[in-house]
Amino acid sequence: MEKFYLEVPGPERKEEAFEYLGEFEKYGSGLNGAGGLNRFKEDYEGWLQMTEERALIEPNEETAPAREFFLIRENDNRIIGMINIRIALNERFRKHGGHIGYSIRPTERRKGYNKINLYLGLKICNQYGIRTALLDADLDNPASWKTMEALGGIRIREFYDDEKAHCDVVVYNIDVEKALSEYAVYEEAIADFRIETERLFLRRMKPEDYDALYAVLADPEIMRHYPYTFDEERVRSWIERNRERYRKFGFGLWALCLKDNGEMIGDCGLTLQNIEGEMLPEIGYHIRADRQHKGYAKEAAAAVRDWAFRNTSYPALYSYCKYTNVASYKTAEAIGMVFDREYADEANGITHVSVIRRR
Ligand SMILES: CC(C)(COP(=O)(O)OP(=O)(O)OC[C@H]1O[C@@H](n2cnc3c(N)ncnc32)[C@H](O)[C@@H]1OP(=O)(O)O)[C@@H](O)C(=O)NCCC(=O)NCCS
Repeated sequence: MEKFYLEVPGPERKEEAFEYLGEFEKYGSGLNGAGGLNRFKEDYEGWLQMTEERALIEPNEETAPAREFFLIRENDNRIIGMINIRIALNERFRKHGGHIGYSIRPTERRKGYNKINLYLGLKICNQYGIRTALLDADLDNPASWKTMEALGGIRIREFYDDEKAHCDVVVYNIDVEKALSEYAVYEEAIADFRIETERLFLRRMKPEDYDALYAVLADPEIMRHYPYTFDEERVRSWIERNRERYRKFGFGLWALCLKDNGEMIGDCGLTLQNIEGEMLPEIGYHIRADRQHKGYAKEAAAAVRDWAFRNTSYPALYSYCKYTNVASYKTAEAIGMVFDREYADEANGITHVSVIRRR
């Protein structure tokens, strides 16, 4: 079965990106939803730089922060589409453009791929706390607005746009969480999650991981720096919560397993955590006691760091722990994080935060 994922554009896709664009020209297709790549024909690196900068800007009258992704078909590692997510809107984009723009290469259209593209894009919206996505399309572009309707989009407005599009435009709202839950059937088209390192692999947790995870999280020594040690119920709900995170955000804590024999010896992954009042992407890890001090946490966390910079658009990744948890923040520093801040809070007394920024 064909499987897809979103990828932050990187230098290695240069030729393919222009080949993608070339297809639009060959078939005389409009260049909407191609992230402005057409304006950088001779300068892919310039486009990459522009996309990096655009992700970080503060919204102002003229512009708003946005991030492009390639829709990659895993089976042949090919760019099939693009999607552009505006992380915040200004007046201008509220009126025209909304949160999302997308495209599918002409030779791959009418195969249902844009529905998968939008489904994945809604997970990105969720990562940024966008509850209701605003989208618009020209009325004479049914492929675009039918995609919105296929993911539960409600038409809220129709108007003649005499400023930009010079045609009838239809405007939609999509309830992001509702769409991700009601159209979870698209999960079948999402690439199976797996990261490999030299000695480890990470995969999604499943209910059968209960015993292996209990051996980690119910160990009072390992959980010494946490407000509580886990009991059976907490371990089971930990697994469920992470499975829910995969669906809602496309990431969570994953099962950390040895390549040699497949044994799960801990967890490691990315979650959104409330760090001093702000929901920020956090790399977390727990390793079973008898497998500690072998560099596994560092190896897994480095792989999660690389995955997060490639598959999400966060400008920085964090790790946080109780200030006494030296092993935890030393692991963070071992993957290139640096001290960010410490602050007083109820759970930890003092919380220690480390950070690494996208380069
Ligand atoms: C809009 C676009 C992304 C759709 O891609 P796609 O992969 O062909 O879309 P899908 O196959 O997933 O189909 C999505 C829906 O649109 C319908 N559709 C697709 N092409 C259509 C067409 N030419 N006419 C009418 N309906 C069409 C599909 O039947 C489906 O609706 P359904 O679920 O009710 O059957 C693609 O046409 C494109 O790249 N266009 C150029 C860029 C663009 O206009 N982007 C939108 C503005 S940012």
